[in-house]
Amino acid sequence: IRTIGVLTSGGDAPGMNAAIRAVVRTALSKGVKVRGIRRGFHGLLKEEIIDMSARDVADIIQRGGTTLLTARCKSMMTEEGQQKAAAICKKYGIDGLVVIGGDGSFRGAQKLASLGVNTIGVPGTIDLDIACTEYTIGFDTAVNTAMEAIDKVRDTSTSHERCSIIEVMGRDAGYLALWCGIANGAERILLPEEHDYDEAELIEDIKESMRRGKKNYIIINAEGVGDSINLAKRIETATGIETRATILGHMQRGGSPTCKDRMYASIMGSKAVDLLLEGKSNRVVGYRHGEYVDFDIDEALKMNKGIPQYQYEISKILAL
Ligand code: F6P
Repeated sequence: IRTIGVLTSGGDAPGMNAAIRAVVRTALSKGVKVRGIRRGFHGLLKEEIIDMSARDVADIIQRGGTTLLTARCKSMMTEEGQQKAAAICKKYGIDGLVVIGGDGSFRGAQKLASLGVNTIGVPGTIDLDIACTEYTIGFDTAVNTAMEAIDKVRDTSTSHERCSIIEVMGRDAGYLALWCGIANGAERILLPEEHDYDEAELIEDIKESMRRGKKNYIIINAEGVGDSINLAKRIETATGIETRATILGHMQRGGSPTCKDRMYASIMGSKAVDLLLEGKSNRVVGYRHGEYVDFDIDEALKMNKGIPQYQYEISKILAL
C-alpha cells in the first residue's frame, strides 16, 4: 500500500476527527502517503481529493463534526457510480481506503473492495446501530448531550408537574433512547424495536403514577417511533395533565467529543491503517468484549443486533 485515502460518509458523529487524525498520522508514520476525500463518496465521485500532512490534522481531535465534510451519496448505490469511484481511486493512486461511517457507507466500501480497492470500514454513527461492534464513534458524546438536555427538561417538567415527551435520535434504532431512559430515570421508554406499544395502558400509567405522588412523567421517545407532538396532545386530552413534547434533533450530533469517543476513534483509525498494511481488505473495525477486532464486511452487514432485553426490563423496574 503506497497511498491511503480517508473519507467520512453519512451522518457526522463527534469523534470522526479523531479517527481522521489517527488514519493520517499512523499512515504517514509508516511511510504511506495520505489523501483526504472531502464530502464522502459524493466528493470522491467529484474528485475532491487533497493531500494530507500531519499538520492538516492538528487541532481537530477536540472538534465535533468532520473536517473532511460528509454527505449521503445515492450514486454509490449504482453500479455506474461504484465503477467510477473505483476508477477515480486508481487514477489518484489510492490503493487503500478508510471509510468512516455507518452500514450504508460500508456497502460502498464493500463494492469498492470487490473492484480492487482495498477498503476498511470504521464505525462512525451516533445511533450505535452497527451489529458487529459494541461501540460506534459518536454515540458516547451524543448520549451524554441528550442526557444533559433531558435533565434540563426534567427540571421544568417537575416545577410544572407535567408529563414531558423527549424525542431522541437513532433512526430505526433505540439505543440512544434506552440509555437516556435509564440514565435520566425516565418513567417510560418507547423503542422502535418493541413495535407497537399500548397507548391506553401508557395513559393509565401516567394517571396512576401522578396519583402515587410523582411530580412528573418523563417519556423518552425514540425517533423511530416518532409522533411525539401528537402523542403529547393525546395524553393531555386523556389525562388532563399538561403535556409537552421536545424533539432534541441535531444538537445531539454536535459538540466536542467525550474522552471515550476521542480515545476509541483514535485506536480504530490507527487499526484501520494497520489492517491495510497487513494486506487486509473488505474488513470493518469493531470493539467487542473489551478488544478492538475486525470482521469481514459481508459478514458484518449480515449480523443483527437487537435491543438488550435485560436492560429494557430493568428500565421498567427502576421507573417505579
Ligand atoms: O444516523 C445518524 C442520524 O442522526 C439519525 O439518528 C437520524 O435519523 C439521521 O441521522 C438524520 O439524518 P439527517 O441529518 O440527514 O437529517
